[in-house]
Amino acid sequence: MTTLKGHQLLPYLPRIRKDTPGFLLDCARRYGDWVHFDMGVTQAFFINHPDAVRHILQENHRHYTKDTLQYRTLALITGQGLLTADGEMWLEHRRLLQPAFARPHLMALDEVVLPVVERMLQRWEHLVARQAVVDVDHEMLETALEVVGLALFGLDLSREAPQLVRAVLTALDYVIYRAQNLVVPPLNWPTPRNRAFKRALGELERAVDAILDTQRDKDARGENLLSLLVQAEQAGRMSRQQVRDELVTMIVAGHETVATALTWTWYLLTQHPEVEAALLDEIDTVLDGRPPTREDLPKLTTTAHVFAEALRLYPPAWLITRRAIAEDVWMGHPIPPGALIIMSPYVLHRHPAFWDEPEAFRPERFADEKARTYHRFAYIPFGGGPRLCIGNHFALVEAQLILSRVLQRFRLVFAGAGPVQAEPLVTLRPKGGMPMRLIAREGR
Ligand code: HEM
Repeated sequence: MTTLKGHQLLPYLPRIRKDTPGFLLDCARRYGDWVHFDMGVTQAFFINHPDAVRHILQENHRHYTKDTLQYRTLALITGQGLLTADGEMWLEHRRLLQPAFARPHLMALDEVVLPVVERMLQRWEHLVARQAVVDVDHEMLETALEVVGLALFGLDLSREAPQLVRAVLTALDYVIYRAQNLVVPPLNWPTPRNRAFKRALGELERAVDAILDTQRDKDARGENLLSLLVQAEQAGRMSRQQVRDELVTMIVAGHETVATALTWTWYLLTQHPEVEAALLDEIDTVLDGRPPTREDLPKLTTTAHVFAEALRLYPPAWLITRRAIAEDVWMGHPIPPGALIIMSPYVLHRHPAFWDEPEAFRPERFADEKARTYHRFAYIPFGGGPRLCIGNHFALVEAQLILSRVLQRFRLVFAGAGPVQAEPLVTLRPKGGMPMRLIAREGR
């Protein structure tokens, strides 16, 4: 274990602020899998060995909470929703909401995703004619939000999507600003940033009110997420505030992550024509011109591997933190109570002992039987243990459907000036968006 004292970290501060994933990657390369940041009152451990990550997230998860700056600031938006809550309340809500992500719902996702994608493709038809450059990042955000609306709430959010996407991005910007600055003006001061954040929160509140209003008129016996929440409120198992927090959590966590991962996938495909060609070949062979259905998913393996590899290189959730609530020891390394644990999928996914040529985009590594035996905790785009992402299968099915349907109709060509930088915000976002030119595939 290497210990870095506060003063040794000082020279790195500008880098830490500007490029935390890059700093953590260097740190792991230079100091190994277990780095101790000794900052006096704050003791932090940066953990980069899959066994240690499994220990924290799974084997000894009861020793750890989400009471960290990362989740406390996120809770300014999501309150005590699943992503940020801890303890009994988290467990009760997780059990309550899990049925909304059960297999039959996931299998029916094609009925939800395809109409949404179709709307986007119709828009794209017009843009192709004008040879317009499209911000694919934005397109993915709106599309993924509409999927959440239809799949989880049974609602068409297409009219509200542009505004809601903007509100979520503004709110998340504020969260990052709060997390990166030790001293910030209190929220009740009318600074432009505070006002923008409050406006964004207001937008989300209004959306939640509208969503709940539509449900009141309906019979709440269904098993989509919204009905489960309304039933829980009616049965007195959840307060109105808790219902609000879970709805906002699903809106925020359920679309920005998937959209960002898809956006990076499009980018990687434009940079790797040989992978794109293999993917087009698979899609044309398996689908033969028909839109994909649930039955096609097991056959669209290259599509799944391309998305898995994009999640490896650009994991939207690039940082996972925990706080130790009791003393713990891993392989002789003591972890005192109160210590901050830092884990980074971005860094773990590049661990040279667990990945060959970690920087290379090679989707086939997920097809290779040998590579498939990679350490389960060396690949954690969705986290692990009991706090594993509730939407992981949902995201994978959604991505396979969107990628295959879009590629049947269009090829995307990068139209930016230079390489796109990854900006480590709440998720790992493409800096400046993702400009692409669309090319209609002939005869399709
Ligand atoms: C949790 C990533 C899609 C809802 C998480 C965690 C990660 C993650 C890493 C665990 C965080 C931790 O342990 O600290 C992703 C990625 C996605 C994605 C990369 C897409 C590619 C979704 C979707 C939904 C969703 C589609 C909802 C529809 C949630 C929720 C939690 C969560 C509610 C908290 C679960 C709990 O603690 O019980 N996600 N997620 N996510 N995710 Fe996702």
